[in-house]
Amino acid sequence: MKGVALKVPFADLARQFKTVMPEIQTAMTSVIDRCAFINGPEVKQFEKDMATWMGMPEVCAVSNCTVALELTMQSMGIGPGDEVITVPNTAFPTAEAISLTGAQVVFADIKPGYFSIDPDQIEKKITPRTKAIIPVHLFGIAADMDRILSIGNKHSIPVIEDCAQAQGARYKGNYVGTMGAAACFSFFPSKNLGTFGDGGAMTSPDTELIKKVWRLANHGRSDKFTHQVVGTNSRLDTIKAAQLSVCLRQLDAWNADRRRAAALYGDLLKDCRNIILTKVPEGCEPIWHVYVIRHKRRDELAAFLKKQGIDTGLHYPLGLHQQPVYAHLGLKPEDLPEATAACAEVLSLPMFPFITEEEITAVTDSIKAFCAL
Ligand SMILES: Cc1ncc(COP(=O)(O)O)c(C=O)c1O
Repeated sequence: MKGVALKVPFADLARQFKTVMPEIQTAMTSVIDRCAFINGPEVKQFEKDMATWMGMPEVCAVSNCTVALELTMQSMGIGPGDEVITVPNTAFPTAEAISLTGAQVVFADIKPGYFSIDPDQIEKKITPRTKAIIPVHLFGIAADMDRILSIGNKHSIPVIEDCAQAQGARYKGNYVGTMGAAACFSFFPSKNLGTFGDGGAMTSPDTELIKKVWRLANHGRSDKFTHQVVGTNSRLDTIKAAQLSVCLRQLDAWNADRRRAAALYGDLLKDCRNIILTKVPEGCEPIWHVYVIRHKRRDELAAFLKKQGIDTGLHYPLGLHQQPVYAHLGLKPEDLPEATAACAEVLSLPMFPFITEEEITAVTDSIKAFCAL
């Protein structure tokens, strides 16, 4: 079998950062020299850079996406007694942020054959208590925003886009994060725009909402010595903001490189028996945060690939409705059949900017060998 000796990592951050390391070092050294570690000018600069890049009026940088989601909901007045609809096949923080506000998480199933929320299921879950809908642009593929926004408008419910895995993805030409009432981003190191630790941001067409989030993330203060509300300490470090501004300039190119890799995977695996490739809905330009395939014997396939030196990931092995923390919701796996089935079958293949054709071929040759067994 061709290429099996090659070890292929799931991600390779060093390969990506190496391309801009001198610029990052200059930017970070400048912060260290001036010791402006908290709310230094680089934070405002990064917020400006990101807002300009995506065509939004303002961005608020925070310490991670979980807190971005939580503070955005809190700023919208969401709390105990309210309900927020999202999907069960997402990273735990999407639901965790809802729970942290005191609101009830309501899980809606995903569209058959896809990984994002099914607008028909949203309609079924709306009650007078529903105060937000959080579609997740999972794996870097936009959710069905036209239908989701029209449901939100019809019921006057704000849509908060979870863009943690999708920075730079487009829907009908628009960047994700520019369509809803608010949007939240993650700069976790392995995200498409990642930092050297945790980081996050939110944006909204409503600049008052952005100010409220900034205030909450900065101890509830309106100026240095005036605290209007009880907030928290959830700022983005200056040193990370300096690095993020450098990397943001590369983001579209890095995302294009992921698209090259995804196209190659798709081509090499298209005739592979029992493998289901991820379908891209019309109008979506994904950024392939992860490249996911489905296989009924996913665990065996992952173990086989591991033996060949190929690392894989799981996004996610268990629906959040099946997690102990949400047992009180009383949901059975069959209540959310599409998400439950997806979680049992998904496997994420190595995907990162600068992954070589040789590495991709090593992965696909091994998958073909497994499928031929
Ligand atoms: C879809 C999704 N939402 C939210 C988050 C939370 O992001 P963070 O780790 O920056 O808090 C993640 C991160 O894994 C994610 O993938």
